[in-house]
This record gives sequence, structure tokens and C-alpha cells, in this order.
Amino acid sequence: MSAARSHRVVVIKGDGIGPELVDAALEVLDAARGALGFGLEIDLREGGAGLYRKSGVSLAPESFEAIKAADAAMKGPVGLPGVRLPDGTEAGLLGGILRIGLDAYANVRPVRLLPGVEAPLKAKAGEIDYVIVRENTEGLYLSRGKGVGTSEAMADTLLVTRKGVERVARYAFELARRRNGAKQVTCVDKANVLASLAFFRRVFDEVGETYPDIRREHLYADAAAQALVLEPQRFDVLVMENFLGDILSDLGGATVGGIGLCPSGNIGDKHAYFEPIHGSAPDIAGQDKANPVSQILSAALMLEHIGERDAAALIRRAVDSALKNKKLILGPFGQPEGGTRHAAETLAAAVRQLAAH
Ligand code: NAI
Ligand code: MG
Repeated sequence: MSAARSHRVVVIKGDGIGPELVDAALEVLDAARGALGFGLEIDLREGGAGLYRKSGVSLAPESFEAIKAADAAMKGPVGLPGVRLPDGTEAGLLGGILRIGLDAYANVRPVRLLPGVEAPLKAKAGEIDYVIVRENTEGLYLSRGKGVGTSEAMADTLLVTRKGVERVARYAFELARRRNGAKQVTCVDKANVLASLAFFRRVFDEVGETYPDIRREHLYADAAAQALVLEPQRFDVLVMENFLGDILSDLGGATVGGIGLCPSGNIGDKHAYFEPIHGSAPDIAGQDKANPVSQILSAALMLEHIGERDAAALIRRAVDSALKNKKLILGPFGQPEGGTRHAAETLAAAVRQLAAH
């Protein structure tokens, strides 16, 4: 492996449990870097509600430019419920700035049942293993801040564009081609009711025609909600509109043991950033209780994205083996026994040990 290969990564620790999680992920990243011999230049930047409280901005313009110039970014969760804008919504959230600003149109949310995890469904580790690709820049959430109406009625608009569906569908088909799964993409929509989502399905099918090696499937969102609970084993890649993806991906996370285990990527053609699917958990912040696996698996997704596939696989194997050998034990709410720092040390040691064999 070439020692000259190096990547520049912006890291934002965020709020609440963010700093604890990001420190854990950096420790594991460092173990992988040391074991496999690639370079990782970490550019730490502030962002989130804490920064907003201090300075009046959630992310400095220079930090945004640094993310655009970097190979990728990793962020911890942000947001503190007490820090609010005059209209009552939360200040310090970065979703709008980063998803739209970086045109990160594919929100990639792997749902995988890990060994040794108590999940509410009866399934063996590895049997549940699919990825939800949520459209991240349009759909119903394009209406964010733009709802119209009166004191008697309010309306939001669900907008779907050909360009928007084409690119996210292509992402989903390419992902299915790369994965070891069933080589299948399921389009989840409400094409039976809404013209916008019938259009989503039509454009999905047009893109699918150019991927004859990938099986295509359609499901209405209500039926998909049931199927994700009753027969999650049959899914490989699913693609859907923004709002539907937001809801169904949390449902998927719950089926494999909770959000503390679930990573995500926000990926565009030029820029990408990686983060857990959950929030800043102020109820357990600063107590060394949070599960760092979501952040560590987000770091693995980032490594895969920047071309360090061996390192990504090594980190995933370390998580699997630590859970399987009960070196990492999770409590009923997903808290790691022995604490966040101990979990990070355990996983970094597992990375070094697996790499040495
Ligand atoms: P949350 O996801 O922070 O917490 C929900 C529940 O899950 C809490 O009981 C929490 O303790 C638990 N939990 C979450 N992550 C955990 C982990 N890694 N280990 C163990 N337990 C964990 O959701 P909540 O309370 O609705 O939001 C808190 C803040 O996070 C808000 O300010 C919200 O706006 C923000 N938020 C930020 C996101 C982001 O930065 N991407 C995403 C979602 C929410
Ligand atoms: Mg959500």
C-alpha cells in the first residue's frame, strides 16, 4: 500500500454527545490508518448550536469552504433544544446548509443487523442488510420555510424534478451493482395517489432500463412500512422521495436495534459528508454513556467513499467481532457497557488485532 496516499477530511464535533462520539470515531480511524498505512489529514472545525450561541452562525463561511475543498467531511450530531431562532424552530442545525449547499442529493442509510444486538425482530445477524437511498435535496422538504397559507389553512408543496430523480435513481442502481446483495432496487412511492410520485416512479423506471442486470421492484410506501418490519430480509437497495425516506429509514433503524447503531452518508457528485442518523442526545451528553457505533460506522462509510475500502471493511469487521465476542456489550437502550471511551478503546484494539492477522 502506498504511504503517499493521503486524504483531507473536515471534522465537526457538534453538540451534545457529538464530541464524545467524534473522539471515539477518530480513535478508531487512527487505528485503521496506522494499520493500513494511509494518510488522513484532519481539519477540525466548529459547527452547530454551540457555535450559533457564541457567534450567531451555525457554520462559519470558511468552514463551509473547507468542506467543499476537502475529500470528505464527518460530523457529529448537532442541535440543542434550548437554542432557538425567533420563529421558534431550532438554530444550529446544519442539514439545510450542508445538504443543499453541497448538493448532497443521495442520503445513504445502511440498515444492517449486527451480531450480538438485541433487535425487536426475529432475525439472525446479517439477514437484515439493505440500504435506503433517500432523495436529499427536493421532494416535500423543498418546501422547508416556504409553506403558504392563512390562519385557517396551510400548504406545503412536494416538488420532484426529472434531474432530481434521475440522479438519485442512478445512484441507487450503481450501489446495487457494487453490493454483494440481491442486485435489486425497490422504488418506494405513492404512485397510486400522487402525480409527483407517479412521476418519480416513471423516471425511476426509465433509469432502470439502462441497468438490465439489476432487478427492479415497486412498492407503495404504506406496504413498504409493513414489509420493512415483516420481511426486511428481502430488500437490497431502496430508493425514495425525501420525506418518505426520512420516516422509513428511522423505522429501519429501529428494527436493527436502534439509532445508536445507524450511520449515514450525504453524497453528491462533488462533495459528501457522513454522520449518525440520530441527534445530539442532550439527555445523556457528557456522561460517557452514548453508543459510538453509529459514528464509527459513519467513519467507515466515509473511508469507503474516499477509496479506502480495505480500511472501511476492517472497521466493520472490528465492530462485528467485538459485538460477537461480547467485548462490546450494549445495554437495553444501546448504551455500551463500560462507557463510550471504553467502547472506543475496545474497537480500536479490535481494528489493530484484525489487521495484524
Ligand atoms: P436524539 O436522536 O438526539 O435522541 C433520541 C433518543 O435516543 C434519546 O433518548 C437519546 O439519548 C437516544 N440516543 C440517540 N443517540 C444515541 C446514542 N448514540 N447512544 C445511545 N443513545 C442514543 O433525538 P432528539 O432528542 O429528538 O434530538 C436532540 C437534538 O438533536 C435536537 O436538537 C435535534 O434537533 C437534533 N438532531 C440533530 C440531527 C443531526 O445533527 N443530524 C438529527 C436529529 C436530531
Ligand atoms: Mg430524520
